[in-house]
Amino acid sequence: MEYIKQKLLKKGEEERLVVKRLISEFGSTVLESVNIDQVLTGMKGITGLLTVTSKLNPNTGITYRGYTIPEIQQKLPKVRPEGEPLSEGLFYLFLLNEIPTKVEVDALSREWVSRSELPEHVMEIMDAMPLTSKPMTQFSTAILAMATESKFQKAHRDGLHKNDYWNTTFEDVMDLIARLPVVAAYIYRRNYKDGKFIPPDPNLDWAANFAHMMGYDSDEVYRLFRMYMMVHADHEGGNVSAHATHLVGSALSNPYYSYAAGMLGLAGPLHGYANQEVINWIFEMQEEIGTSDTEEEERAKIEAYVRKTISSGQVVPGYGHAVLRVTDPRFIAQQLFAQKYVENDSLVNTVNLLYDIVPPILQSLGKIKNPWPNVDAFSGSLLMHYGIKEHFFYTVMFGVSRSLGVLAQLVWDRMYNLPLERPSSETLEFFKQKAGI
Ligand SMILES: CC(C)(COP(=O)(O)OP(=O)(O)OC[C@H]1O[C@@H](n2cnc3c(N)ncnc32)[C@H](O)[C@@H]1OP(=O)(O)O)[C@@H](O)C(=O)NCCC(=O)NCCS
Repeated sequence: MEYIKQKLLKKGEEERLVVKRLISEFGSTVLESVNIDQVLTGMKGITGLLTVTSKLNPNTGITYRGYTIPEIQQKLPKVRPEGEPLSEGLFYLFLLNEIPTKVEVDALSREWVSRSELPEHVMEIMDAMPLTSKPMTQFSTAILAMATESKFQKAHRDGLHKNDYWNTTFEDVMDLIARLPVVAAYIYRRNYKDGKFIPPDPNLDWAANFAHMMGYDSDEVYRLFRMYMMVHADHEGGNVSAHATHLVGSALSNPYYSYAAGMLGLAGPLHGYANQEVINWIFEMQEEIGTSDTEEEERAKIEAYVRKTISSGQVVPGYGHAVLRVTDPRFIAQQLFAQKYVENDSLVNTVNLLYDIVPPILQSLGKIKNPWPNVDAFSGSLLMHYGIKEHFFYTVMFGVSRSLGVLAQLVWDRMYNLPLERPSSETLEFFKQKAGI
């Protein structure tokens, strides 16, 4: 992977100087003012981070290094022209801001397979965990257990120069990304299948290998996994998993610690856990409303159930977003995938029906900023369709995908020598005083 490192260093040294110059020469340039409501509602809309891998536009959705999801699907290398892009290509793009060739992507596939072996103690630790512990608990514990392998931590202890932080961070990131699908598949098979470990196939790409190690070997599932990894890979820097990874990384904690922190954030119901919640919620709804004789009757029952969810003080999972103000393009990408490959699946049909029913109801509340579906509203129905029915596992799959973006960003954080993140906080008295109350 020396050529990737050389390219990275060349770009990195140039950009590092830009960051340095921005701080020293333009440091006092005012970006925007900050309002009380922004601080008290989760710092929404405050520009407080430098993230190069992706950018979220409220009205058009995510772009990965400037490319929209449809552009990514079109431009990145694939196994077959009509298929889904390979995750390796996406990581390459995040890291180097270049569309790779198929040859470069294949080299990365082989590299990740070669780095994918788990240390023995990681499997022992996973084996020791009770099956009652949540898959995300097992996943983040295994990530922490892998920190024994951190090359960054060792080099830092040995007196690493700060301009070289990126190098061993890159090595850790490569090892971590290579091993995450192995860890996740191990958890899946131990918790839900026969517990037998399926080793990676050196001829498969990263996403297809993940499906293979979970025990799903078909072109359709490989294609689904490539699409799934692509839509979940990154969502700029302020979302909880990306921000937590960056924040903990800013303390120069090793990449394993940093990513485990991100995963603990992803496990929350307002973030990555929502993909499980969507399926739970739909199943509970179906159980409660039963069958209907006409579509009209079904719609009426669903509407009533949505209203009941809201009036009991709960959110409709899979709807709303802290930044987006339109239907999430990642939802649309999955919907198009379903239109192309999935024929008449009742759960997928229900998800489509909800897309019709839920937004007007949420809009009528008059308080929600975005009544449209997000990425989580669709993903579970596709996984269910292909036989992956263990919805408590879905956030782990999200977690594997998210590594592509946030760990590429962690390499850049270290390349730029970004310092310890340390915003200031104020007491309630301060805000009362500012408001004059
Ligand atoms: C994503 C989410 C956390 C964004 O939160 P947010 O930025 O605070 O959202 P808003 O500013 O639009 O919230 C305004 C109000 O609408 C409510 N609201 C937001 N999304 C809602 C939903 N899906 N169902 C019902 N009410 C919702 C909020 O609870 C809030 O009510 P309150 O003022 O009584 O507290 C929120 O929309 C949500 O909880 N969605 C469901 C969970 C989900 O899908 N998460 C995955 C996100 S990718």
